Amino acid sequence: MKHDSSQNSIRKIHHILADILTDYYQGASSEKVLDYHERDQLVGEFYRESPPAEGIGLAETLAEFRNGILAKSVKTWHPLFMNQMFPGASYPAVLGDCLTSLMNTTLATWEVAPVATIIERNVSEWMAGVLGLPEGSSGIFLPGSSLANLVALTVARNQRLGDRLRQTGLHGRAPAAIVCSQNSHYSIANAANILGIGENHLVRVRTNDCNEMLVDDLVRKVREATAQGIRPFAVVATAGSTVTGCMDPISDIADVCERFDMHLHVDAAFGGAMTFVPEGKKRLHGIERADSVCWDAHKSLHAPLTSTALLFPNADVLKDCFDSGANYLFHPHAGIPPETEDLGRYTPLCGKRFDALKLWILWNAYGTDYFRDFMADRVRLSERFHEMLAKDPDFQPSHKPCTPLQCFRFLPPALSAGNPDEIDRFHRAVREEIIHRGMAFFNIARLNGRDHFRTVLINPLTTLDDLRRLLEDIRSIGQKYLQSGNSGHDSVVPEN
Ligand SMILES: Cc1ncc(COP(=O)(O)O)c(C=O)c1O
Repeated sequence: MKHDSSQNSIRKIHHILADILTDYYQGASSEKVLDYHERDQLVGEFYRESPPAEGIGLAETLAEFRNGILAKSVKTWHPLFMNQMFPGASYPAVLGDCLTSLMNTTLATWEVAPVATIIERNVSEWMAGVLGLPEGSSGIFLPGSSLANLVALTVARNQRLGDRLRQTGLHGRAPAAIVCSQNSHYSIANAANILGIGENHLVRVRTNDCNEMLVDDLVRKVREATAQGIRPFAVVATAGSTVTGCMDPISDIADVCERFDMHLHVDAAFGGAMTFVPEGKKRLHGIERADSVCWDAHKSLHAPLTSTALLFPNADVLKDCFDSGANYLFHPHAGIPPETEDLGRYTPLCGKRFDALKLWILWNAYGTDYFRDFMADRVRLSERFHEMLAKDPDFQPSHKPCTPLQCFRFLPPALSAGNPDEIDRFHRAVREEIIHRGMAFFNIARLNGRDHFRTVLINPLTTLDDLRRLLEDIRSIGQKYLQSGNSGHDSVVPEN
């Protein structure tokens, strides 16, 4: 099979592609969230010992993709996909992602990506602007907030732990610590590991029932570490925590950081989009004092994975950390306006994808009003869902949502006095059956020591009726288990 990019063949393929996209978006509500198959069935169908010696052509390959790979994958754009913080991806942004691949450039250097460099800088500034960061704030795009957290903490370490750390490393220095809440994202622990700080020097601050950091405990832990000769140099505040979506008190944490000379990094991977609604803006108060902020457009702004901005009041701190002087690639010379500099000097990445384009296309096509209306609508949906749960005697919401994310438990009277571990198992079994039947896809998470259902409510297609239906499905499957448990078994729940 030969490479063929003739006009006719590209047009033919585009018709197929148009059908795939149209069916995916139009059919989102009518299909199951997942056509469930057991692991060994999937491995049997998709795993091939060796690559094909002869190709079957692109049209046939796309048919295999559509009928096999896509058909048997989770439909993350489905209104009842609420499992993770990325609710599928919106159409303009998906096109943006394809067009990024079409351009196939790296933003390492201005000379091969001049316009892309301007757009990335510009979109970073828009994001900093809507968050209310100081004038002049901007940053870079990275593939995900896990990496953005690592990069932000690398800047913090190099700036706060003394001169020439970049050259000398941590050798011979006093131990240092990163401070975060008990419920911060696991990428912070990974960053402590990768940066040579060590996970044992991750100071975990206690949280309230909604997973928000307790500032008294923060001060106590910073003092304790300092008294032991450990230098806490950075605090990570989470704006939109992974399990509950709640916000750490950023302004109070900023005060503590100032007092103890620590870098404040705000992980707003999920909660950044709350800046578009007045109540969210209030909760994000203090973010303007952060030394760094990350925000995923691939979460609440539903750009496809990945599209993450890492923002600083002065992005030059990135250059201090990563400018490598690789002279085969970077050819800086005097008089270059700063906004046209090689972005490769601001990041550890050499192949730096144009991940800002999908957000630019979405923003340009729909405008800020779209984000504002959409976030206001999702906040309202989560409030209504909370009311629905609170009124229903069979359900118990864990907290009043701060962002569009709600955890809850199914606790009908027959179950509420049961063994707590058994109730946890029951929740896991009910969720699994719902997923296997393709009815909905939501998560389960540990909160205050017990398993809770966790629904992320930022998918623009999810309606209150969908959520009502979800509760009815949980109720009927739950009742089925309860009845089988009541008829002669010790446990009300089958082991899974
Ligand atoms: C609070 C928080 N920070 C960071 C991340 C990691 O983001 P990413 O998936 O973009 O690496 C997540 C992921 O859900 C998160 O919830």
